[in-house]
Amino acid sequence: MFIETPRLVLRPWAERDIEAFALVNADPEVRRYYYPALLTPDETRSMLADCDRHLQAQGFGFVAVERRADGALIGGLGLSSTGDEIPGGPHVEIGWILGRSHWRQGYAFEAASACLAYAWSTLGLRQVIGYTSAINTPSRALMQRLGMHSDPADDFPDLTVPEGDPLRPHVLYRIDRPAQAI
Ligand SMILES: CC(C)(COP(=O)(O)OP(=O)(O)OC[C@H]1O[C@@H](n2cnc3c(N)ncnc32)[C@H](O)[C@@H]1OP(=O)(O)O)[C@@H](O)C(=O)NCCC(=O)NCCS
Repeated sequence: MFIETPRLVLRPWAERDIEAFALVNADPEVRRYYYPALLTPDETRSMLADCDRHLQAQGFGFVAVERRADGALIGGLGLSSTGDEIPGGPHVEIGWILGRSHWRQGYAFEAASACLAYAWSTLGLRQVIGYTSAINTPSRALMQRLGMHSDPADDFPDLTVPEGDPLRPHVLYRIDRPAQAI
């Protein structure tokens, strides 16, 4: 999976990304809506190995986002298959984690828009979902900006988060392949 946008390249993870992405996953502000929150460098390495296996097996995945101007790693974004843990699954999910210094510059929207276009025209998918904890305002706003829609009937608890934790209630957003992409 290799996608170019005006400012970014989405590409498979490389060994040189691990240290930079481990720093992103060790930032409490970035990981504020994750449970468990912070990842150790070994956990980031293992996460990226999982992403690579997914990419090899399915032909799409959660990949590195690199800035074309200087080769900086902005973060990770991409498509992953979900299992039965998400109601109505299996689905293909779009997700993102960008380094804090890169927020609010339109990078996530640029990368995610290109990723959705790839999902429709190259992968031929009919629907992509996104989900996050209900209190993750930035991610919810990004999904809405991408044209994704949520229905309260799809709300679900993330059963891996303890009852009473504010991160447990989750919302699910969907977007269907637009007619012009067929
Ligand atoms: C969510 C995230 C990827 C957004 O990245 P970003 O590059 O800052 O987003 P963009 O600059 O492309 O913004 C696109 C839209 O998202 C929304 N948005 C982004 N950050 C926001 C914030 N802090 N508050 C409210 N809306 C926000 C806005 O609608 C924005 O459009 P606008 O700028 O025209 O208003 C980034 O905040 C992030 O990595 N967060 C931590 C990881 C995370 O929580 N991932 C999801 C876990 S399920």
